Amino acid sequence: MHTESADFLGGLRPVRSHEDQESDQKLFEWKDGPLVQAMRDGAMFLIDEISLADDSVLERLNSVLESDRMLLLAERVGGGDGDLEGEVEKLEAADGFQVFATMNPGGDFGKKELSPALRNRFTEIWCPQSRDRADLESIIEKNIRSDIHLRNTQDGTSGFGAAIMDFIEWFTSTNVGKRTTVSIRDLLCWVRFINICCEVMASPNTPSAMEVDDDSSTKPNQTKLSPEVAFVHGACLVFID
Ligand SMILES: Nc1ncnc2c1ncn2[C@@H]1O[C@H](COP(=O)(O)OP(=O)(O)OP(=O)(O)O)[C@@H](O)[C@H]1O
Ligand SMILES: [Mg+2]
Repeated sequence: MHTESADFLGGLRPVRSHEDQESDQKLFEWKDGPLVQAMRDGAMFLIDEISLADDSVLERLNSVLESDRMLLLAERVGGGDGDLEGEVEKLEAADGFQVFATMNPGGDFGKKELSPALRNRFTEIWCPQSRDRADLESIIEKNIRSDIHLRNTQDGTSGFGAAIMDFIEWFTSTNVGKRTTVSIRDLLCWVRFINICCEVMASPNTPSAMEVDDDSSTKPNQTKLSPEVAFVHGACLVFID
């Protein structure tokens, strides 16, 4: 989605209700955007994928990130509020206001770096991708449906965490796999596939989005997959497709 500074700062919006006398005359009124609101409330403000925003948006942040945390709302001139008529609102952030931003490194496909001016105003925290087997296994186990398992559950797990991680360890040691990055999102995609395909099997009488045939109660259900087959197809979906 294209973001412009008005999405952050606010803008003139059509007046919908004409209940009170004062707004009776106005067609448009100023509406604070999320950044301005967070500054007034002293709230936290998260900018996801900051490096994908337009420079025109980002340069408005520079003054907010200075020590006096100030924003000149030039757009609001003539916004209709009597006390601000003809003046530019100078907004200072309330206590507690904090800005967080996330981005992927500039080297990634289609990503750019932040300008040095903006980058200097943040404290940078580099988050490496988690490769810890125990962590990834527990993320998989947490996300897999509790009624599906690959083998006996004596160790208290579904068996999917270990099986998926065994595959990943083998795959990333192959020539093709060495050139591939396997992200948590890939693992979760695989898990979601298993959850959906085994859902039908876990409750054969429940209509599901995958059943196209209304008469499914009398015919064998073509879409049902055993956990093992769903596991294999999930791997194909994520790593071949
Ligand atoms: N430590 C974790 N514990 C549990 N789940 C996690 C953890 N880290 C990531 N995930 C899962 O991975 C998914 C992707 O994480 P997230 O959306 O935060 O990634 P991202 O860094 O913003 O990725 P992108 O750069 O693509 O935007 C989340 O939906 C979450 O379920
Ligand atoms: Mg993200």
